[in-house]
Amino acid sequence: PAAPKVKIGHLAEYRDKRVRVFGWVHRLRQQAQMTFITLRDGTGYLQLVLSGDLHKTLDALDLVTECTIEVTGELKAVPEGKTAPGGHELAADWWKMIGRAPSGTDSYASLFNEHADPSVRQRLRHLDLRAETPAAIMRVRAALLNAFRRFYANETVLEVTPPCIVQTSVEGGSTLFKFDYYGSEAYLTQSSQLFLETCLPSLGDVFCVQESFRAENSHTRRHLAEYTHVEAELAFITFDDLLTHIESMICDSVEYVLADPVAGKLVRELNPNFVAPARPFLRMDYKKAIEWLNEHDILFQDDDPAQPPRPHKLGDDIAEAAERKMTDILNVPMFITGFPREMKAFYMKRVPEDEHYTESCDLLMPGVGEIVGGSMRMTDLKQLLEGYKEHGIDPSPYYWYNDQRTYGTMEHGGYGLGTERILAWLLNRYTVREVSLYPRYPGHAQP
Ligand code: 4AD
Ligand code: MG
Repeated sequence: PAAPKVKIGHLAEYRDKRVRVFGWVHRLRQQAQMTFITLRDGTGYLQLVLSGDLHKTLDALDLVTECTIEVTGELKAVPEGKTAPGGHELAADWWKMIGRAPSGTDSYASLFNEHADPSVRQRLRHLDLRAETPAAIMRVRAALLNAFRRFYANETVLEVTPPCIVQTSVEGGSTLFKFDYYGSEAYLTQSSQLFLETCLPSLGDVFCVQESFRAENSHTRRHLAEYTHVEAELAFITFDDLLTHIESMICDSVEYVLADPVAGKLVRELNPNFVAPARPFLRMDYKKAIEWLNEHDILFQDDDPAQPPRPHKLGDDIAEAAERKMTDILNVPMFITGFPREMKAFYMKRVPEDEHYTESCDLLMPGVGEIVGGSMRMTDLKQLLEGYKEHGIDPSPYYWYNDQRTYGTMEHGGYGLGTERILAWLLNRYTVREVSLYPRYPGHAQP
């Protein structure tokens, strides 16, 4: 009888049975009497053993890494004292070439390996993805996105899909990608927040997993031109509720990933020192944070490099470098809350006791810095109109956003989380580029 076709990830139930598998030759080791192949099909790795006639014909057939093959054989537990992925190996009795791969100087191994120069790996990202570490990262990424969705389902937060093509800015005009849209100007979205807010009276609490775009000319470890933005908006909450919700979102999602047998194992392999974050997160007011930076001699560096570094003063932005030094010292997740109005976007609710500051928060993680930005939103139309004015924004394209205040306003707030940033933290990666499938950053949109 024909052997059943099985994915490598599902082989555990087929011990001592004949199966048929398909995949790519990941590794190839030829010995005098036998050939060992590690086969890869995306669901796992499987050791194949070819002996006898099968072994003898291989050379002539040009079997090299990255060839696609079909194999049948009996699945056996690996002999005592040896290891193989899944604890089993396939004793092949038949195989067939499906897709050849180049050998010699064009072979995968000569073109490329995980230790190749970063610029080579960038250009060959499509091949890089076949290597073990990038594939493991993508697998954890998928598990994390699932975990977010599970968290939101538990909290009765509904998923929506806002548009990417928009005609309003959220986080300031300087980072907008503009394009011609049937003769008028449109942008690639920077954030879906404003659209999420309009959903509250219709759908209740909502979230989205949507690409956001930032035309920032920042060549840093944590900036992309396109990133996967997880945003949520919650009605009838206080600022304190918002912080607690963000804390739960991070802690529960990380817990789900760690509890997943495949993804949890990969996290521990990729980041052996990972410790799940403890609740509650440290909370530090912006004013206190400025004092803290000065107490620790962490200086402010102006965008203009001609300006010498100086101590921080109230109203200063806490830049990436300062943030990083701060989280390196404290080494725990922390919220900075209550940023000054002029530093933040037009829509942020002001602190009732001191209107110069906002009910806003950034969540900083060790090694990465900011991974979440959030705030309570203005509820009052008059104040919102002043907000546009203060930020030099023409309010007319925002008529729909304003209507949210006209037709039944309420206290509400939300946040945006950068998927690549939380992954860089979770997997201890040097840059967010490593956790993006095909990263986009200044000058790069290929492959
Ligand atoms: O702090 P940001 O700009 O906040 C907003 O867009 C709000 N409208 C979100 C909201 O309240 N719904 O961006 C939110 C997060 C940041 O904390 C960061 O993690 C990520 O998005 N982010 C980036 N990630 C990668 N590359 C970039 N260029 C990013 N810009 C922001
Ligand atoms: Mg921010």
